[in-house]
Amino acid sequence: MALPQDGNIVILTGAGISAESGLDTFRDAGGLWAQHRVEDVATPEAFARNADLVLNFYDSRREGAAAARPNAAHAALARLDREWRGGLLIVTQNVDDLHERAGAERLLHMHGSLALAWCTACDARVPIAQDLIDRPACPACGASGHLRPDVVWFGEMPYEMDRIYAALGIVDLFVSIGTSGAVYPAAGFVQEARTSGAHCLEINLEPSQGTHVFHEARHGQAGQVVPAWVDEVLDMA
Ligand code: OAD
Repeated sequence: MALPQDGNIVILTGAGISAESGLDTFRDAGGLWAQHRVEDVATPEAFARNADLVLNFYDSRREGAAAARPNAAHAALARLDREWRGGLLIVTQNVDDLHERAGAERLLHMHGSLALAWCTACDARVPIAQDLIDRPACPACGASGHLRPDVVWFGEMPYEMDRIYAALGIVDLFVSIGTSGAVYPAAGFVQEARTSGAHCLEINLEPSQGTHVFHEARHGQAGQVVPAWVDEVLDMA
């Protein structure tokens, strides 16, 4: 495909890009949704019913993410971000911080981030490194017992949708990496991108649920396929 040198790229990432860093995906065999029920740990109702269970789930994921290291796929996208002169937006569904630790800057977390807590008393979003189950005081207002993980639960609106749809409205190349295409609205981005006339590429271990909507698919480990694809894009420029 011909991509103008100042073309606009949107990249959607999911749990598969962090799998080679040792973090569990959701829907692969033995993944997070085989270990836990969504309705027990990832809804506002679950938090109201049993906050300890929910806080434990995200505390242990925060610890896991802190111990993990960005892999070759995160590093390649960070290089693309640094070197691509056109528009670029990495939209991650992941709540780990491996993209930013690899150096990516043109990045947004549509499902929130484990590195932040949200104070339901004063509405502040605050950086957090400690366990929320210990009910730390909010660094902004001092209230105790009001911090929740700043992640998007089922039934809540993902973040930055206006910015994402604005980017999809002018995108030339849309790439989906390491996501099963099971969760909307992210699973619908490829259709938006197609409507904008973008070339759509899927990079995933196996065909995603929406694989037929893409123009092209490359199946394999993100740690191998993504660096090779980034080399191609930067060589073309
Ligand atoms: P999934 O677990 O649904 O899908 C991960 C995808 O990554 C699968 O299609 C795997 O085949 C693929 N995969 C696994 N290892 C890979 C590797 N090394 N290289 C490339 N691909 C690999 O995770 P997501 O699609 O990210 O939302 O899930 C989307 C959302 O569902 C999550 O953000 C989360 C979850 O419920 C919320 O919690 C709101």
